[in-house]
Amino acid sequence: METIILAAGKGTRMKSKLPKVLHKVAGKPMLQHVIDAAKSAGSTREVVVIGSGAELVEQKISGVEFVLQAEQLGTGHAVLCAKEKFAGADDTIMVLCGDTPLFTGELLKKFVDAHIKAKAAATVLTAEVPDATGYGRIIREDDGTFRKIVEHKDANSYERQIREVNAGIYCFDAEKLFDALTNVKNENAQGEYYLPDVLTILKSNGEKINAVFTEDYNQTLGINSRAQLAEADKIMRQRKNLELMDSGVTIIDPATTFIDAAVEIGVDTIIYPNTYLEGNTKIGESCAIGPNARLADMIVGDNVQAQFCYCHEAEIGDGVILGPYVHIRPNTKISNKVKIGNFVEVKNSNIGEGSKLPHLQYIGDCDMGGGCNIGCGAITVNYDGKKKFRTTIGDNVFVGCNSNLVAPVTLENGAYVAAGSTITKNVPADNLAIARARQTNLEGWNDKRK
Ligand code: UD1
Ligand code: MG
Repeated sequence: METIILAAGKGTRMKSKLPKVLHKVAGKPMLQHVIDAAKSAGSTREVVVIGSGAELVEQKISGVEFVLQAEQLGTGHAVLCAKEKFAGADDTIMVLCGDTPLFTGELLKKFVDAHIKAKAAATVLTAEVPDATGYGRIIREDDGTFRKIVEHKDANSYERQIREVNAGIYCFDAEKLFDALTNVKNENAQGEYYLPDVLTILKSNGEKINAVFTEDYNQTLGINSRAQLAEADKIMRQRKNLELMDSGVTIIDPATTFIDAAVEIGVDTIIYPNTYLEGNTKIGESCAIGPNARLADMIVGDNVQAQFCYCHEAEIGDGVILGPYVHIRPNTKISNKVKIGNFVEVKNSNIGEGSKLPHLQYIGDCDMGGGCNIGCGAITVNYDGKKKFRTTIGDNVFVGCNSNLVAPVTLENGAYVAAGSTITKNVPADNLAIARARQTNLEGWNDKRK
């Protein structure tokens, strides 16, 4: 089974500069959801028809073939543009729309099986939706067999009351599809070549057309507007939350938990409310994440606690405690049992096992060993206004409160820095560095002032 996915449309109703099919549902472009479902249903090849914003779609989507539909003359015309890719094909072609991201591979698989079993020339998936506005309506014969599909804009008031709609998911006999397509006309309300007209043409040729109904209309939602995008996002996230809970993750309040489709979480991890887990984030077992955490493209070990924090594109080991109020920025690697708390920012740094950054630090461009204790308010001075420099800190280093470590600088193993120091020179192993003005007490100063 091979697949054609239609993704060339402008998405006019989205009112967006971004091609519609690249808008994300649960953190993944809707077109990617469609491709993933097709592959998991056993599709061996996906040809994506692109047009509007074609370059961007090609950049963002991989593992498929593309054909260009230079002018968007309708869904039927879009499929015809893919004809050359299927020269001589005589098996099943599945056609999907890039703007229906909610169906599962499982549903597609059943649908394809039904098509093959019925030996139909074409099969279309249908569903009954609460609001059919915008969809093509399924018109059936008195005996319940398929008669035709009427687009919303072409439908009369009687047809508009029908709530059984075309889900935009089809299977065709390849040869019959491309034959019939050449006979599709554009004499309709939109002046477009409609793919659903192929079904009517094949039927009038005496071919068997199957309209397969699914109860689960949530899987067939087509996204043409931002309101539908929000609806799809909600459905996808609910599905994701249920999947995770089924696999042994506790979600305290699914309604305020936003987990992207690709996120992985280990058993016995608890997700507290107001938490956003985004992109390709992977979280280990027995963690406590949130409340109020945003983790994007993060790798997190086991037994990690993270509350009130924003962490992105970084790696965190086992038993780490983060927060409250922590910002972990890209290219940071935090080893096991590190503690990072209260108003700390770490960027482009490596923090060794068991080190503590408990309050008010900025650590940027720093390689820190294990067992260090960094005092409150200590910072790496990594930027001179033009260039960034690294700070190197060995194992078991103690940095006193409110110290500035002016990079490039090295603090060797066991070094101590006195509170309030501005360190501009390397500190050898086990030395104490004091770099601040000595205190002078002026005796009787206040009496003289009076
Ligand atoms: C389409 C169907 C409708 C169905 C609905 C399901 C047609 C004529 N109508 O309507 O029966 O109920 O989907 O969601 O097929 N596209 C192209 N090239 C074009 C036009 C569209 O590639 O020239 C692509 C779009 O990018 C989109 C898909 O085809 O991914 C569907 O097009 P859209 O304009 O959204 O059709 P609908 O009005 O939703
Ligand atoms: Mg649509």
